[in-house]
Amino acid sequence: MTNIKKIIGGFAMAATIALVPMTTHADDQDTIDYRKQVMSSLGAQAAALFMTLQQKAPAENFASHVKALAVNSTQALKAFEPNVEGGTGKGDAMPKIWSNWDDFSAKMNEFVEKMAALDKAAQEGGMAAAAPLVQESFTCKGCHDEYRYAE
Ligand code: HEC
Repeated sequence: MTNIKKIIGGFAMAATIALVPMTTHADDQDTIDYRKQVMSSLGAQAAALFMTLQQKAPAENFASHVKALAVNSTQALKAFEPNVEGGTGKGDAMPKIWSNWDDFSAKMNEFVEKMAALDKAAQEGGMAAAAPLVQESFTCKGCHDEYRYAE
């Protein structure tokens, strides 16, 4: 697990690099790291949300986890735009994400819409209104089964 000193050190380094007047490009490893970070935070927020539903974590935080997921979901499609296939040691994204881009992006956009609808329900009616929508909103597995190599 990344520790906080490493993260802060990383920011300091990024700030230094930003002062150097030169164009840098995201390489393949950056692309893979970035989409994994975006997906990992979806995983963490989803797990936290389910804890609030199971009364293992404060119910007051339910709506903010939904909001975090709604925002986080909008970052995912962009993270998959560069065609960098996964495979051994390179992440788990299957090549058919890019050969089947229309379907993959439709699935991702549908997921974003479901998170937005869940967010709206949670902001307007709290857990009581949003909880019944949770199961159909989490289309994570459907996409993973099709586009992500099994662990
Ligand atoms: C439209 C497709 C799609 C949807 C929807 C989707 N995922 Fe993913 N997810 C992927 C793909 C593809 C990968 C593999 C990325 C890689 O390894 O480069 C992935 C990887 C992950 C990972 C592993 C990240 C890592 O560090 O290896 C987690 C955790 C995850 N997703 C959680 C979720 C959760 C939780 C949801 C729903 C709330 C979700 N995903 C919805 C396609 C999707």
